[in-house]
Amino acid sequence: MTDHTALTQDELKQRVGQAALQYVVPGEILGVGTGSTVNCFIDALATMKARIPGAVSSSEASSARLRALGIAVLDANEVQRLSVYIDGADEIDGHGCMIKGGGAALTREKIVAALADRFICIADASKRVDVLGRFPLPVEVIPMAVAHLTRRFAALGGVATVRLKDGTPLVTDNGQHILDVRGLAIADPLAFETEVSQWPGVVTVGVFAHQRASICLLGTPEGVRTIDFGS
Ligand code: 5RP
Repeated sequence: MTDHTALTQDELKQRVGQAALQYVVPGEILGVGTGSTVNCFIDALATMKARIPGAVSSSEASSARLRALGIAVLDANEVQRLSVYIDGADEIDGHGCMIKGGGAALTREKIVAALADRFICIADASKRVDVLGRFPLPVEVIPMAVAHLTRRFAALGGVATVRLKDGTPLVTDNGQHILDVRGLAIADPLAFETEVSQWPGVVTVGVFAHQRASICLLGTPEGVRTIDFGS
C-alpha cells in the first residue's frame, strides 16, 4: 500500500495535474485554466502534446507556459466549443460551485469554461468547503465603479478592498481592477452570481455556479479522489 501521509500541498497539486491527463481528448483542442495547480497540469500535458492540436488558455501566463512547452495556443474566437476545460479553484462546494480568481484570471476563465461541455476542476483538499466565502471573493470591476461596488458589497455584509500589486492596483489581462470581498457566506451561489453579475461596473464575479464543475479531482492524503457532480 502507498504511504501518502507525507505528501505536501505541492505534491497533491502534481498528482491532480497528472490525473487530469485522462480527461484530455486526443485530437481535440483543450481549454486550459490558470494557477499553480494548472501549471502542474500543463507540465504533465507536455508528455502528450503531440496528441492535441492546441489549447485555448485563460491567461497570458498560461499561454506563455503552454507555448514554452511547444503547445499551440488558439484564440477563443477560433473555436466554437471545447469538450473539456481543466482549471483549479480557490474553493469548491459539494455541488461543484466554485470561487475562482485568486490569480486574477476569472473573466477569461469564465469565458473559456462557457465554451466547454465539461469543467474538470483540479484542486488539493484544502479547497473543499461546505459554504463558499471563506476565501475572499474576487470580482473584476471597471475602476470607476470601485466605490459604488464597495458600498453594494457592504450592504451584503462584505468588506471589499482593491487588490494591489507592488503597492498599486493590480491591472488584469483585460485592463481592469480586482475587488477582494471578505466576510460573505454564499449560501445560494447560483442566485448570488446571477444578482452580482448584473451590477453596473462588475465585469465578472468570481462565483462559478452557472459554469460549475462537472468533475473535481481532489488531491487528498489518501490519493486523488474523483467527485462527479453530473454535467
Ligand atoms: C486563477 C484561479 C485559480 O484557479 C485559483 O486561484 C487556484 O489557484 P491555485 O491552483 O494556484 O491554488 O482562479 O484566477
